[in-house]
Amino acid sequence: MDNQFKRTLVTTALPYANGPIHIGHLAGVYIPADIYVRYFRSKKKDILWVCGSDEHGVPITLKARKEGVEPQVIVDRYHEIIKKSFAEFGVSFDIYSRTSNKIHHETAAGFFKKLHDDNQFIEKTSEQLYDEQEKQFLADRYVTGTCPHCGYDKAYGDQCEKCGTSLSAKDLINPQSSISGNKPVLKETKHWYLPLDKHEPFLRQWIIEEHKEWKSNVYGQCKSWIDLGLQARAVSRDLNWGVPVPVEGVDKKVLYVWFDAPIGYISATKELTPDWELYWKNKETRLLHFIGKDNIVFHCIIFPAMLKAHGDYILPDNVPANEFLNLEGDKISTSRNWAVWLHEYLEDFKDQQDVLRYTLTANAPETSDNDFTWKNFQARNNNELVAVLGNFINRTLVLSNKYYGGKVPARGELTEQDKDALAGIPALKAEIEKNLEQFRFREALKQVMNLARLGNKYLAETEPWKLFKENPASVETIMNINLQITANLAILIEPFMPFTSAKIFDFLQIDALTWEKAGGDILVDGHQIIKKAGLLFAKIEDEQIQAQVDKLEQTKIDNQPKNVKPMKDAISFDDFQKMDIRVGTILEAQKVPKTKKLLQIKIDTGIDQRTVVSGIAEYFKPEDIIGKQVSVLVNLDPRKIKGIESQGMILMAENEDGSLYFIQPNDKVENGSSVS
Ligand code: MF3
Ligand code: ZN
Repeated sequence: MDNQFKRTLVTTALPYANGPIHIGHLAGVYIPADIYVRYFRSKKKDILWVCGSDEHGVPITLKARKEGVEPQVIVDRYHEIIKKSFAEFGVSFDIYSRTSNKIHHETAAGFFKKLHDDNQFIEKTSEQLYDEQEKQFLADRYVTGTCPHCGYDKAYGDQCEKCGTSLSAKDLINPQSSISGNKPVLKETKHWYLPLDKHEPFLRQWIIEEHKEWKSNVYGQCKSWIDLGLQARAVSRDLNWGVPVPVEGVDKKVLYVWFDAPIGYISATKELTPDWELYWKNKETRLLHFIGKDNIVFHCIIFPAMLKAHGDYILPDNVPANEFLNLEGDKISTSRNWAVWLHEYLEDFKDQQDVLRYTLTANAPETSDNDFTWKNFQARNNNELVAVLGNFINRTLVLSNKYYGGKVPARGELTEQDKDALAGIPALKAEIEKNLEQFRFREALKQVMNLARLGNKYLAETEPWKLFKENPASVETIMNINLQITANLAILIEPFMPFTSAKIFDFLQIDALTWEKAGGDILVDGHQIIKKAGLLFAKIEDEQIQAQVDKLEQTKIDNQPKNVKPMKDAISFDDFQKMDIRVGTILEAQKVPKTKKLLQIKIDTGIDQRTVVSGIAEYFKPEDIIGKQVSVLVNLDPRKIKGIESQGMILMAENEDGSLYFIQPNDKVENGSSVS
C-alpha cells in the first residue's frame, strides 16, 4: 500500500504548551507514530516526522493570567519540559519546533493572507460575548456554560468535553466569563470565516467516497459531521496572544489557534529541510496525521478545507486517530492532576522507558477507550517482559557462553522441530509488517512477542541442557537457531522498544541492523557474542507500584470537595442588625490557669477596655497576639467562664482542620469601628 508513494510525511498533534506530557498523549499519539516512523526508517524509506509545541490559544493565556505572568513565560516553561521528556523517552521526531517562533508566525500569516487575497474567507460583523469589566471578548475557553446538546454545565465556548460537540460561544446556555465570572453582554466585532459549507461537496466526495479505508472511528465521526451540515467557522479572534491577523489596519486580532496550529506542521517542515515543498506539495508524498479523537474534525475537515482553499498543498492520505486512554478507571485530566506524567515516570523508573512503551502499546486505545492501571503495568513487565522476552534472551546468551564460550555454533542437520522454529521467523515478520502498515500496533507488538514465545517454547521442547552430553551436534543447531531468533528480535523490536533493541545488539556484539535483514539468518558461525550480558528487564516490586497508587490516592483526596458546613436557617435583617460588632485591639493576654484552651484577653474596643475569655490557647501564644486588631461581638450577654466574667466574643474563622484565624480588617482601623 505504501508503494505508490515516494515519501511519507508524518505529523503528530502539536501538544499545548500549558502542561507536561502524560500517558494519554503517549498512548494515543506519540508512541504509535514513533513505532510507525521507526519502522519505515528501518525499511530505509523516505519518511519525515514533524511536531512541536502549540503555544497559542486560550488555555495558555488563562494559565498565564492565573499566575500573573506573560504567556511567553508559560510556553517557554512547558516547551522545555515537553521537549526534554520526549527526547528521554526515545520519541524520535525529526524536528520538535514551536508555534511562537518567527518562521511559524510568517508561515501562518502568509497562509492566511493568501486565502484572504483569494477571497476564500467571508468577512462578517456579528455580536459576540463580551466581558464589560475585563473589556474583552470571550471566545473559546474564556466562556463556560451549559451545552445546548447534552446539558453538561461546564461546556467551553469552543467545545463540550462531555459530548464532544464543537460549539461556538454564543450557543452556550447561561454563559459565564471564565475571567471574572460575570454574565457577558453582546458586542459587535468583525471576523473572517472559512466557509466550510462551500467545501462540503468536496469534503463529502473526498472522505465519504474516497477514504472508506480510514479507521471506522475516524470515518464515522467525519460522516456524522458532514451529514449534520457544515457551517462557516471563524478563523480569527479578539485576543492579543497569537499570530496577528495580517490585514492592513486590523489591530488586536489574531488567528484562531486551530487555524494557526496545523500550519505549524508546515512551518516545522520548513525549519527542518530546504526540501520542505517536496513533502507538502508533491502528489507522490503521503501525508499522515497521528492524533487523538478530540482532534478529528480539525484534521479531517477544517485543515483539509484550508489546504484545499489554498490550493498548493496535498491532503492527508490517512488520519489514524486513537480513542482515549483512561487512568485507573477515570478520565485523564491535566487540571485535576489525574495523570501519569512522563517527566515524573522518567524519574521514578530510571532507564525503564521501554516498560512504559510496551505497556502503553499493548493497551493502546486503538479501537475503543482503554484503561491504564499500575497493576497491569507491573503484570505486563513481570509476566511478559521479564518472563517471556527477557527470559528467552537471557537463557540463550547464558547457554551459548556456557557451551561455546559465546561463539555462535554452526547448524547441522535440521529436525522438523528446528525447521518449524526457523520458519516462524519470516512468518511472524510478515504478520508484524502487515499490522504495522494498517496502524494496528497492539497486534504487531503481540506478534513480536510471539517470536520470543516461539523461542521459549522451542527451548523448552528441545531441552538442550539435557542433550548436551549425549548429542552435542544437535545442541549446536538448537543454539544457533536461538541466537538467530535473538538477533531477529533485536531488529523487529526496535520500533516498539528501541532501548531494548540497542541492548540486544550490544549483547550480540553486532551493529544495529535494518528491517530487510530480519526474517532469516543474521549471525555468522563463529561470531563472538558478549561474554557476560546483563538482564534486559528487572522485576517490578509491589512497593514500587504501591507508591504510584498512593500518589494517585493523594490526588483523589486533594480533589475532594472540602467539607464546608451546611448553611444555617435564614435570619431577618433585623436579627442581624441586633449584633454590635466592633474592631478592637488586644492589650493583654494570658492563659487561664488549669485550662488547656482558654486565654484571658483584655481588649480596647473603642467603647471601653474589657475582658474576654476565648478558647484559642491551642492556636495562639499570649505574647504573639498582643497588639493585634480583632473583631468583637460587644453586646453579647456577659457570662462567667472559670470564674472570670467574659464580656463579649472575639470572631474567628475556623478551618476544616480546626485551626483558628482572627477576622481582621485588612488595614489598621480606629478601635470601635463597627463591622456590618
Ligand atoms: N494542541 C492541540 C491539542 O492538544 C492539538 C493541535 S494539533 C494541530 O488538542 F494540528 F493543530 F497542530
Ligand atoms: Zn455536550
